[in-house]
Amino acid sequence: MKIIVAGKGGVGKTTISGTIARSLARSGHSVLALDADNNPMLGISLGVGPERTDELGTLRQALESGEVAHQPSTAGAIETFGTDAPDGVRLVVLSRIDRADPG
Ligand SMILES: Nc1ncnc2c1ncn2[C@@H]1O[C@H](COP(=O)(O)OP(=O)(O)OP(=O)(O)O)[C@@H](O)[C@H]1O
Ligand SMILES: [Mg+2]
Repeated sequence: MKIIVAGKGGVGKTTISGTIARSLARSGHSVLALDADNNPMLGISLGVGPERTDELGTLRQALESGEVAHQPSTAGAIETFGTDAPDGVRLVVLSRIDRADPG
């Protein structure tokens, strides 16, 4: 099952996403949470904590920087770039903007 949470700014996407992910994981499901927001905050909602959430590496930047070899499989990417969050959720952050320009 794939669940996508989208909507306009500030409507509760991150809060709802984290709650759904943790709830499913607590029920025994294997949960992969993908944070596709340019300002990724899902880690906070998942219980990773604000400092660690800020420091989480992202899949796109890691691949672009050449720090790590390209992962040939989805499972490999999840293993390499993912972070374990409370309740058994695996979190992967896709991208992050370093600095937002006006507009
Ligand atoms: N069901 C709710 N009832 C009341 N407040 C809520 C609810 N869900 C979220 N909030 C609050 O609304 C604010 C925005 O929530 P959240 O960050 O989850 O929204 P978002 O859609 O992810 O925002 P953004 O577009 O900035 O990423 C937060 O302060 C959050 O605590
Ligand atoms: Mg959000």
